[in-house]
Amino acid sequence: MSAFQLDVAPDGLAVVTFDLPGEKVNKFSREVFVELSEWLVRLSQDPRVRALLVVSGKPDVFIAGADIKEFTEVRPEDASAGSARGQALFEQLARLPFPTIAAINGVCLGGGTEFALACDWRLMSDAPAARIGLPEVRLGIFPAWGGCARLPRLVGLANALDLILTGKQIDARRAKKVGLVDEAVPAPIFDEYARRFARSKIGTGKRTPRPARLSAAERALEATPIGRRIILNKARETVIGQTGGHYPAPLEALKVIEETYGKPIEAALEVESRRIANVFGGEVQRNLLDIFFATEQVKKETGVADPNVRARDVSRLGVLGAGLMGGGIAQLAADRGLPARMKDIEPKALAQGYRAAAKIWKDAVARRRLNSREMATRMARLSGTLDYSGFAQCEVTVEAVVEKLEVKRSVLAEWEQVVPPTAIFGSNTSTIPIAQIAAAAGRPENVAGMHFFNPVHRMPLVEVIRGEKSSEETIATIFALAKRLGKTPVVVRDLPGFLVNRILAPYLSEAVRLVREGSRIEDVDRTMKDFGMPVGPLELLDDVGLDTAVKAGEVLQAAFPHRIKSGGDEALVAAGRLGRKTGSGFYEYEGGKRGRPSRTAYEILRAQPAASPRYPPEVIESRLVLPMVNEAAFCLEDAVVPGPGKLDLAMILGTGFPPFRGGLLRWADSLGLPRVRSLLEELTERFGSRFEPARSIRRLADARGTFYGSPAQPVDTEAAS
Ligand code: COA
Repeated sequence: MSAFQLDVAPDGLAVVTFDLPGEKVNKFSREVFVELSEWLVRLSQDPRVRALLVVSGKPDVFIAGADIKEFTEVRPEDASAGSARGQALFEQLARLPFPTIAAINGVCLGGGTEFALACDWRLMSDAPAARIGLPEVRLGIFPAWGGCARLPRLVGLANALDLILTGKQIDARRAKKVGLVDEAVPAPIFDEYARRFARSKIGTGKRTPRPARLSAAERALEATPIGRRIILNKARETVIGQTGGHYPAPLEALKVIEETYGKPIEAALEVESRRIANVFGGEVQRNLLDIFFATEQVKKETGVADPNVRARDVSRLGVLGAGLMGGGIAQLAADRGLPARMKDIEPKALAQGYRAAAKIWKDAVARRRLNSREMATRMARLSGTLDYSGFAQCEVTVEAVVEKLEVKRSVLAEWEQVVPPTAIFGSNTSTIPIAQIAAAAGRPENVAGMHFFNPVHRMPLVEVIRGEKSSEETIATIFALAKRLGKTPVVVRDLPGFLVNRILAPYLSEAVRLVREGSRIEDVDRTMKDFGMPVGPLELLDDVGLDTAVKAGEVLQAAFPHRIKSGGDEALVAAGRLGRKTGSGFYEYEGGKRGRPSRTAYEILRAQPAASPRYPPEVIESRLVLPMVNEAAFCLEDAVVPGPGKLDLAMILGTGFPPFRGGLLRWADSLGLPRVRSLLEELTERFGSRFEPARSIRRLADARGTFYGSPAQPVDTEAAS
């Protein structure tokens, strides 16, 4: 069956409908390319055709770009040829002898955008689902089917760099503003309008290229070599600032644009296809691709093995506790169209939940991501109560009360009194085992963990904690709910700290130890940011709250006393320095902004920061990253998650572990497990037995294996015993 349908009207308007059979989205596979090329030849020779309108047969998608699944089959040495093939095809489109119009009804990404750029005109629907962009850098490559060559000519240097180097996706209004599309058309009249527009172009000939529509200031800057240099240097600085220079693709794209801006298109395309070989097939590209596939895989999963288990429908969400997390969870639900009912014990607390939610929407309104009418609609999905009224109608309730076992148990008991027997309870516990929370529950099968990360609206991970008695239906329902809320769920075993917090604990406590031993706070944080973490460990402690970290650390210390010491620092907590929320922790804060490392913190810790670095960065890095690898190995031994892929995905989405490294265990594999083991042994000798390598690391190192090559077999550990 063909991917394209052609319809030529008597007046000469040819409408080609792209509708890839059997697929949810249109994409450019090798096969589609062959077919498209044949169509373009046929169209160019068809005497009836006087204008071409390209539409999509998929409701919310125009074209989702290259078929990413084929990327793994392309050998790096063939990358330039693959790029040249795509460029030639889109050149064929650009050279059709009549006006061509792309009717972008929905998502238009990557190769889809490059296709549209080769058309004379672009119309875009203002439907909420419609977005356009060039997300290639997020997959470790850059647009190389003519995107880097064409976009700057159309929208100017600065706008093109902004889109290509960040991979951001924009809506019709913004696309029109930067000149990427010619019109943003109201969704209800889009099809009709596109046809009328295309008809109006019949007989008008090809569109003559026009200079980018820029403000006077932008034009002045882009008109001179010095101005262009300023824009390019600024873009490079921004990329390095945001990525630490760890991602080759945006830097390579920058070089392509720098070398080709203002040159004839043929020359620009040549540079583009030559330079793509510098990134395609590289380690970073392969790592980013693996993460993309791992995230896609979760979309297909249900969280349980049995395909017959169905998630229950959820029409309302209950949220117990309207604090930072509860308010955030309710906001997320309401934002995604799910009415959310919050309960707290006093009006002041409820008000805080509303305020937390409103603030997130207000910020979105300020950034013009949302209008005030939409904000009002979303706010209206929130309701609050001081008792359990309305909770009987909530198929799922997320508990986000304080991290105290007795409190969690008592709200669970109260909740069970008022809800029907089918209602599900998801605890947002960060460390307390579900088995303990559900120990006295009447229906423990309906209880599981639903652990969000702070801030809820930003962090993409949800740990779904399978309690010993949680039913399959409960897990499937929470898993499906997490996906509906736009999160990536990972099912974890019910052991202390679950996955992410357990792996973070030795890292955070080691960071505090380094400070006690005389390292400077900023050196510790800088080392980990250079490694690629979004924030340093001491900054993270301040953001999470030292009291929270201490509490979590206590649970973990009790479970794994040999390796893990309490996460934050009791002395700072005792002094009331809880981090950002109290205005001081390891750093001082002013107006919520992080300032300098705190002198007082050093005093309280009885630490004397050395004038010159106490340890070189490689020692700091080893002392911080290797305990995480070690703890991750213990987690695999304990079967907290089924394998290294899920563990890495969780660490990337839950902590921002640098995606370019592919994940914690991917990183360890790339270092080589014999090396990981010998480094851990050196650390053990020098700094103590907490670094002793996990049995599985020793075994894999002996066998010259890798985490990914040969998954660790579960063995008994202190947690299991
Ligand atoms: N290549 C290969 N497969 C793709 C694809 C692409 N570019 N875009 C989407 N798909 C597949 C998905 O893997 C999924 O496959 P499945 O049905 O086998 O699971 C299917 O299309 C539907 O995608 P899904 O993500 O479930 O649908 P959605 O409506 O939630 O989102 C998109 C649609 C297009 C927004 C989303 O899939 C997306 O962002 N894709 C990546 C696009 C991209 O990065 N393109 C640039 C390539 S350089």
